[in-house]
Amino acid sequence: MRKPENQLTVIFGASGDLTKRKLIPDLFDLFVQNLLPDKYAVIGVSRTNYSNEIFRDIMKEGIKSFSRSKNSPDEMIDEFLRKLFYISINTSNPDEYDYLKTEIDKIDKITSNSGNYIFYLSTPPALYGIIPENLGLSGLNTSGNEKSWRRLIIEKPFGYDLKSAQELNHSIKKHFAEEQIYRIDHFLGKETVQNLLVTRFSNGIFEPLWNRNYINHIEITSAESVGIEGRGGYYEGSGALRDMLQNHLLQLAGLVAMEPPANFDPDSIRNETIKVFQSLRPLSDEDIRNNIIRGQYLSSHIKGNKVPGYREETGVSPDSRTETFVAMKFFVDNWRWGGVPFYIRTGKRMPTRVTEIVVHFKATPHKLFMNMSSGCSSCNQLVIRIQPDEGILLKFGMKVPGGGFNVQTVNMEFHYSDLSHEYMPSAYERLLLDCMNADSTLYIRGDAVEACWKFVDPVVAAWKNDNSIKMYGYPAGSWGPETADSLFDIAGITWRYPCKNLADNDLYCEL
Ligand SMILES: NC(=O)c1ccc[n+]([C@@H]2O[C@H](COP(=O)([O-])OP(=O)(O)OC[C@H]3O[C@@H](n4cnc5c(N)ncnc54)[C@H](OP(=O)(O)O)[C@@H]3O)[C@@H](O)[C@H]2O)c1
Repeated sequence: MRKPENQLTVIFGASGDLTKRKLIPDLFDLFVQNLLPDKYAVIGVSRTNYSNEIFRDIMKEGIKSFSRSKNSPDEMIDEFLRKLFYISINTSNPDEYDYLKTEIDKIDKITSNSGNYIFYLSTPPALYGIIPENLGLSGLNTSGNEKSWRRLIIEKPFGYDLKSAQELNHSIKKHFAEEQIYRIDHFLGKETVQNLLVTRFSNGIFEPLWNRNYINHIEITSAESVGIEGRGGYYEGSGALRDMLQNHLLQLAGLVAMEPPANFDPDSIRNETIKVFQSLRPLSDEDIRNNIIRGQYLSSHIKGNKVPGYREETGVSPDSRTETFVAMKFFVDNWRWGGVPFYIRTGKRMPTRVTEIVVHFKATPHKLFMNMSSGCSSCNQLVIRIQPDEGILLKFGMKVPGGGFNVQTVNMEFHYSDLSHEYMPSAYERLLLDCMNADSTLYIRGDAVEACWKFVDPVVAAWKNDNSIKMYGYPAGSWGPETADSLFDIAGITWRYPCKNLADNDLYCEL
């Protein structure tokens, strides 16, 4: 990882949860690794009236609770905290930006003296259009010279449907060029997600098989064991489709399905993922009815404790139609993937927290050995575990020792934790550093966000307008509605249940 040139990071939403729990602790982790610029400052901006000292005290709590380097000596934490400043304004009010500009420029003069600013939007999404506009009107969007630069990082969610995403892109691009805009999908910052590209494109053994001739289907699961954790108000306006599938899961599908890029630079890679999104077969009304299952978790017992159902959570309407689970079958209509189904699912209150991609290879053309199960239940699988217990596992058939030729499936595994000497940066560490170094490879381009919304928009509309489309209940702590298994129309095939028997167990499942 490369140390960036001198600059400032200005965080809008600095009194919020994300700043305290993630951004500042992860910036501190970069500081400990000597990966922050030599001359650097962080300026927190929000309405709450903090002094620099109070802001530093609160961020110290964040570092001591959430940073991976939380046990660092106090002198080191204090040295980092001295780089933190705070400015209180109402960011929706354009009249307050002249003051903001003066204060930021003042702090820049005594710290980085670079004129290079990253603006990080960690505010409610309603401000994602307003803040860039106000930055533009006040002239903060440009340094006014060719030597220094301005960049904008935008948290998720980027829009709530195609129209709002298009409007947001349009409004931001009035003041920032696409090269200045960094849209976050923190899944792309995860080491194992990036390793997917390396696994595919640095090994001669996988890529020749990575197509419709050898792959039966692709499965992507992102399960969370937690519920909505008191964020009912937010979740009611979102749901699993918008919160997880439209962004994180489609981004993973894009990396699984993309063609090899010509080069390893941001545009070459993003030019390939956008082609995948453009090749997604549009979902017909029939697809929405038959190939998508939505569900809501119901009250149940987990580890002996009663947990509430979604509709009993604070801030959730008792007759809510917001989905906490979604499973979908879809196709990528292109030369490589013609006819190969992709199955993706995500849900809350599932038995464990796991995100993984499973590539299911086709069965051998001829059943040669007696106990080989037919169909694809005996297929080779490549499991790419994104979280937790990051790693890769290859399943293949081996002879059972002894008489006859009996076959059993065995695993060849690699766990990232085995590389104990290597530091695994968190997703935010990686993404923050990449933006500081002007590397947008792992950020989402505007056209890709819009293409993903275009794909899911008909589902959002159908669910909103057609009450006859079923919402299935599933007990909290289960793998979602059983009917999600019906998406697989091939006998003997269903979802991979990474730890089917751990429903009452808090353990992360093994690969
Ligand atoms: N938390 C997470 O884990 C997470 C994960 C992924 C994405 N995100 C996204 O990141 C964003 C921030 O999340 P969060 O959890 O930190 O939210 P939060 O705790 O509600 O914080 C929101 C921040 O925005 C500030 N704010 C609101 N209105 C403002 C205004 N008019 N002018 C200035 N500041 C204003 C608030 O400060 P004042 O009230 O002091 O103004 C506060 O600092 C959200 O859009 C969320 O979707 C969060």
